Amino acid sequence: MERKVMFSAVQPSGIPTIGNYVGAIKNWVQFQDEYDCIYSLADLHTLTVKQVPAELRARSYELLALYLACGLDPEKSIIFAQSHVPQHAELTWVLNTMTYPGELARMTQFKDKSAHHAENINMGLMDYPVLMASDILLYGAHYVPIGADQKQHLEITRDLAIRFNNRYSPTFVVPEPLIPKMGARVMSLQDPTKKMSKSDENVNAFISMTDKPEDIIRKFKRAVTDSDMCVKYDVENKPGVSNLLTIYSIFTGKTVEEAEREFEGKGYGEFKQAVGEAVVEVLRPINEKKEALLKDKAYLNKVLADGKQKAEYLARKMLNKVYKKIGFIQL
Ligand code: TYM
Repeated sequence: MERKVMFSAVQPSGIPTIGNYVGAIKNWVQFQDEYDCIYSLADLHTLTVKQVPAELRARSYELLALYLACGLDPEKSIIFAQSHVPQHAELTWVLNTMTYPGELARMTQFKDKSAHHAENINMGLMDYPVLMASDILLYGAHYVPIGADQKQHLEITRDLAIRFNNRYSPTFVVPEPLIPKMGARVMSLQDPTKKMSKSDENVNAFISMTDKPEDIIRKFKRAVTDSDMCVKYDVENKPGVSNLLTIYSIFTGKTVEEAEREFEGKGYGEFKQAVGEAVVEVLRPINEKKEALLKDKAYLNKVLADGKQKAEYLARKMLNKVYKKIGFIQL
């Protein structure tokens, strides 16, 4: 039986947070034996907000090194940079002609980002989901492992696939999101009603995967909780504590109930210290590996070159099919 295809990506727009890790990358690793996995650095997407070129390049290598350090294996999965495969931009053009401005204007992420970057509301920011749809549809991906914030973009992707298939003939696989039960939406440490984001102005609001142990511990100690001093999972009334319990559970492998029992009658100080330590212990070996990998640019470039070759082969095949159905001359 043919294996199902999985596609996902992270933008090298900042250092990934533990939200990106538990919502996405951590889960990608587990799928590698079961599916044909394709994982990308979504560098084209980063241009929707202003980037400093040298920083973008450095962060792209850093993200690639983190992928590998977390356990993505270039022998098993295709790992590549989106900008290395021109078909992503080409398919975006075709899909753009089938997308309505109203559909894009109502996207939550577009509305949030427009509010944050009022001085730079560019066409790319609005068109972002169509590029994302192209990423996924080019490879015939059945599943897309993502955090909850990307669900709306997956819905547009499905709509576009169906629209194209209906207008021409069945071409694209209609993909499904895979959203983890736990950790689909890790919240900000400073405002637990907001999602944790790598681009938050307040560095205390997020834990980067490359933060130093002392910074991780300090940020957790400062995390906003409540005044009732009881470690209990209750998202409605105790969003801060519930977020920390979720993080603790994911990083230790304990259930939320086990964690609640562990901290019964104990203060928030002790609880926050334990959450910080659990995260430090998981990130330490990842960072050691990442540092070693970053010293070997030749190897990282080779991973990208191999990935480009494999991804482009698949992308070209799909785009040719699309161009043929549309009525472009085939040479
Ligand atoms: P990005 O770079 O914002 O985030 C990468 C992944 O991390 C997830 N995520 C979270 N999960 C849990 N809690 C959080 N606080 C949190 N913050 C982020 C995101 O849901 C995502 O899965 N547009 C995408 C990148 C992309 C993509 C794609 C993804 C480009 N093309 C095709 C899937 C398929 C993005 O900006 O993710």
